[in-house]
Amino acid sequence: MAYETSVQFADPLAHRADFLAVIVQDGAVVLDKEGDAPPKLDHALLGKLDAALGGVLLRAAGEEEFTGKDLTSVLLHTHGKLPAARLAVMGIGRKKDADKDRDQLRVAAARAVRLARSAGAKVLAIALPEQTDGAELARDVTALAEGAQLGAYKFDQYLKEKKPLKLLQLQLLVPEAMRDARLSEAAAFGVRLAEATCLARTLVNEPAGVMTPQALVKAAEEVAARAGLLIEVHDRAGIEKLGMRLFLAVAQGSVLPPLLVKLSYVPKGFQLKMGPKGDSRSTALALVGKALTFDSGGLSIKTAAGMEEMKTDMAGAAAVIAAMEVIALLKPDFPVHAYFGACENMPSGQATRPGDVIIGKSGTSVEILNTDAEGRLVLADVLAWACEEKPAAVIDLATLTGACIVALGTLISGLFSNEDALSAELMGASKAAGEELWRLPLPPQMEELIKSPIADLKNTGGRFGGAINAALFLQHFVGRTPWAHLDIAGPSTVDRERGVHPRGATGVGVRTLVELVRRRMVAG
Ligand code: BES
Ligand code: MN
Ligand code: ZN
Repeated sequence: MAYETSVQFADPLAHRADFLAVIVQDGAVVLDKEGDAPPKLDHALLGKLDAALGGVLLRAAGEEEFTGKDLTSVLLHTHGKLPAARLAVMGIGRKKDADKDRDQLRVAAARAVRLARSAGAKVLAIALPEQTDGAELARDVTALAEGAQLGAYKFDQYLKEKKPLKLLQLQLLVPEAMRDARLSEAAAFGVRLAEATCLARTLVNEPAGVMTPQALVKAAEEVAARAGLLIEVHDRAGIEKLGMRLFLAVAQGSVLPPLLVKLSYVPKGFQLKMGPKGDSRSTALALVGKALTFDSGGLSIKTAAGMEEMKTDMAGAAAVIAAMEVIALLKPDFPVHAYFGACENMPSGQATRPGDVIIGKSGTSVEILNTDAEGRLVLADVLAWACEEKPAAVIDLATLTGACIVALGTLISGLFSNEDALSAELMGASKAAGEELWRLPLPPQMEELIKSPIADLKNTGGRFGGAINAALFLQHFVGRTPWAHLDIAGPSTVDRERGVHPRGATGVGVRTLVELVRRRMVAG
């Protein structure tokens, strides 16, 4: 992106920068409860900075009652008393657990970039909090580089006044005593992860008139070309040939033709490993993304308000496309395939009618009662296709239901899985990545809600438990493949700046998927 990220083994006290950010935990400044005694510093670096500044840091902290609580900061001009022109002491609150603490670093770095942005800084230095463990230090460096880059993102494509970021250099300051050549790589990885997340954000933020099925496929082709991935694209005739009539039923109301994509990473010299009984289940990971470039609801049309955000209904596909770019760099020793069926859901004289019965790829008949429950129809065919190759696991990401937002809110994605191990793997990966998941059940007792009197299934299950009956529907199309479904309808966007995210698309899912692949590589 616009600025360069580097790791420097330097003393913050002697380091020249436009802006120096020091991240501290709560308790770095101790205030006297009764307010009589002067505040004290309980932080080695802050003590030295305060001494260099002739005590004004401590005074400012006292006046602002700053102790290091989360999302608080103290800002100072150093007036030549430090090589850094400005200083920000940024609180991240109390220590929690390793994953949450690391996410605090991401958010702190994003906040530091925002402060540097409004100060017009060209060089921002962030001092790493004091650390012990070498492996942990690398992860912290990744988190800071990542958080900063995520915080710097702005979707300003269509603004006349763009106010570009002036930042040219982000320097992560590590004490000389912890010098480690691998830290540069750790920072570079954080930048890559964030860039991929920002790619996903941009695909989602683009209006639906621009981010058409064709444009989304072009974005996937560009990723394939950059990352050296294989790509397979099928047009309407190809989709018909594959028997994906549920997908076509969703697409048929739009004048924009549907497109089906398979993006593949295959390790060099990879051969399909046969299982012990000669079965062909591979070690491959399959990723599937919902790719509705616009969801009007079709003939079961949405309200005006309900439609406003529906350009974001391809956030699942955006996440898998972007994740593939980083996965290709990681070069795991197992294949990873990403699939999506891109189309629009529109009302027209050619649109699917409520009550139509369609048999898709798997042979299961579906009574389409509500054309606004379209995501599960496309996913049914694409999941069935992905599972034909018997991957070790298939994971789909979809902005599938408003009901999931009602259940879990806008910050947590719903996780459904037919396998506890895969579910646990995703929970762990998402937590480390700073993206929250909560597992919801797939109760067999609720199957009757999606039974149709005239077809094998119907595509709606009533008002209650809507996220669950959508997931139960999908489960019918994965057979025995270990499968997980992430309902990302809530976290795919934020309506105002939050944590590392500016208003708009978040790129949710990218970092969880990459972390999952990294963990599978280690587990081997
Ligand atoms: N794309 C929507 C789900 C959605 C809603 C995503 C809000 C993001 C924000 C999905 O296709 C949909 O319309 N779902 C319906 C299902 C219902 C008709 C069974 C819903 O959630 O209302
Ligand atoms: Mn819909
Ligand atoms: Zn939808």
